[in-house]
Amino acid sequence: MNATTAGVMQRLKDATADLHTAAERSDFQQIMIAGRMPRAGYVRFLEQMLLVHAALERGMRGHAAAQPAIAQVVKDYQYQEPYLLCDLAYFGVDPASVAPLTSTSRLLEHIAECATQRPLSLLGFHYVLEGSNNGSRFIARSVQRALALEPGRGVTYLDPYGDALHARWAQFKTDMNAATFSEADAAQIVVAAQAMFVGITSIGEELLAVLEIAVPPDVRAAAAAAMGGSHAQGGGHHHHCHAEAAAAR
Ligand code: HEM
Repeated sequence: MNATTAGVMQRLKDATADLHTAAERSDFQQIMIAGRMPRAGYVRFLEQMLLVHAALERGMRGHAAAQPAIAQVVKDYQYQEPYLLCDLAYFGVDPASVAPLTSTSRLLEHIAECATQRPLSLLGFHYVLEGSNNGSRFIARSVQRALALEPGRGVTYLDPYGDALHARWAQFKTDMNAATFSEADAAQIVVAAQAMFVGITSIGEELLAVLEIAVPPDVRAAAAAAMGGSHAQGGGHHHHCHAEAAAAR
């Protein structure tokens, strides 16, 4: 069993490398990185991600007792719903008012189906969202600048861990690799990860379409400049949301 699955993280990385490239190069991500995302686009993105995280995290919490791998891997701080609620509160959004886009509904249905039929595959969805923190930290800086947000406000979800990011990502990799998965489970985890990449990329596309956000002609150059000019440094994290998040748990 271990021989086939010892490197589940390497397998996930290899099986989603092209999808990561596509996600990173998507218009939505490029506009965010370039610091050109209008406020409505960003807020509507947070809304859709709230629905995705709420569904996934409900599933993982519900199965942690019966699935030791979920209990071993998923840490309290990895539950991102409180960070999203905090950011949405900052933007004055009532979470009860959020409705799913078509692409989000599709993803939510898939998550719900996996939660009932193959709960360990939830870790594949979770891998993508947890891994995305690596790139989101850069995006947080661009969004903060573009929307002139107060320091540390409105970007908790994009940069939830601050300077602990690398340690927490390393811990996640260690824990995933230490978990025991059957070959069938590992294969389903990989399929779920691929589906999450496709789902998130589709949500970005649909958001641009429904909000009629135009892609600035120079967006790729601007995004490259933003990436090149800033290597993730810890920058004044107020952790405003974290006290509330802890209280909510
Ligand atoms: C402009 C957008 C993005 C940039 C610049 C970016 C950048 C990065 C970087 C630099 C890493 C490597 C971290 C490391 O290994 O130390 C990374 C990893 C990762 N990112 Fe992104 N990313 C972006 C968008 C996304 C999106 C939209 C998703 C998910 C939907 C995503 C999911 C992941 C995952 C899962 C990993 C972990 C890969 C692994 O297994 O090592 N990223 N990203």
